[in-house]
Amino acid sequence: MEHEDRSGRSRALEGRHALVTGGGSGIGLACARRLAEDGARTTILGRASAVAAAADLRAEGLDVDAVECDLSDVAATRELAERLASEEKIDILVNNAGIIYREPAETHDPREWERVLDVNLRAVWALTQPLGAAMVERGFGRIVTIASLLSFQGGINVVSYATTKHAVVGMTKTLANEWASRGVTVNCIAPGYIATNNTTALREDEAREAEIRSRIPAGRWGTPDDVARAAAFLVGPDAGYVNGHTLVVDGGWLAR
Ligand SMILES: NC(=O)c1ccc[n+]([C@@H]2O[C@H](COP(=O)([O-])OP(=O)(O)OC[C@H]3O[C@@H](n4cnc5c(N)ncnc54)[C@H](OP(=O)(O)O)[C@@H]3O)[C@@H](O)[C@H]2O)c1
Repeated sequence: MEHEDRSGRSRALEGRHALVTGGGSGIGLACARRLAEDGARTTILGRASAVAAAADLRAEGLDVDAVECDLSDVAATRELAERLASEEKIDILVNNAGIIYREPAETHDPREWERVLDVNLRAVWALTQPLGAAMVERGFGRIVTIASLLSFQGGINVVSYATTKHAVVGMTKTLANEWASRGVTVNCIAPGYIATNNTTALREDEAREAEIRSRIPAGRWGTPDDVARAAAFLVGPDAGYVNGHTLVVDGGWLAR
C-alpha cells in the first residue's frame, strides 16, 4: 500500500479513511492536515471551526471534509458514531478534541467537572466503542487518543482534566489488550507543552512562559506538527506492532 508521490512524500495512508475530532485548530488541525497529506481521506469531526478548517484544507487540494458534532452532547456523539460505523469504513480514529478547566479542587465547579468528563472521556468512549467494534469486525484499525503529561502527573487546579487524561490511558491499555490480535492498535500520545489555544493563557504570562520553557530540555515549546508527526507514525504501516502505548512528545520534559 505504501508508495511515494512525485514530491517524494510518503502516501502511506492511501486508501484509508481517518476521523479526527476537534480538528478545527491546534493539534487536531495539524493531525488532519498530515494524515490527509499522507493520503488518507480525512473527516474532521467538530463544531464550526472544524467545518472552516476542512474547507481551508480542501482549498489546498487535500481530501478533507467535516461532520458537525458537539462532543459535549455525548448521546448525540454516540448516535453519530454508530451511524458512521455502519455507513462508512473508518480505518483510523484520532480522539484529539479536549478542554481544560482550571480551578482549585475544593471549589472545582461540578458542572465544569461534568463538561470536562463529557468532552475528554465520555465522548471518547462514545466514538471509540462503535468505531472500534467495526474495525475489529473488518480486521484492521488504528486508534490514537491525545492524552497529556497530566496522564502521568497530577498538576494543580486541573483535577477534572487530569482525571480524564489518566482515564484515557487506562481505556487505551484495555482496548489494546482486547483488540491487538484482531488487527486493531490502540495508543495514546502525551504531548508536552504545545503552542495552541489550550496554552494561550500560559504563554501570555511572560514569567510563567519563561519558567516553562526553561524547564523543557529541548528549550522550546512544541508545535502542533511535532504531535501530528507522532500520530502519523502510530496510524501508519510502521507501527503495526505498537499497541497499548502512550508516546510522550514533550521535548524531554518528563525525563527531567
Ligand atoms: N496544547 C498543549 O500543550 C496540550 C498538552 C497536552 C494535551 N493536549 C491535548 O491536545 C488536544 C488538542 O488540544 P489543543 O492543544 O490543540 O487545543 P485547541 O486548539 O483548543 O483544540 C481543541 C479542539 O477541541 C475542540 N473541541 C472542544 N470542545 C469541543 C466540543 N464540545 N465539541 C467538538 N469539538 C470540541 C475545539 O473546537 P472548537 O474550536 O469548537 O472549540 C478544538 O478544535 C486536547 O485533547 C488537549 O487536552 C494539549
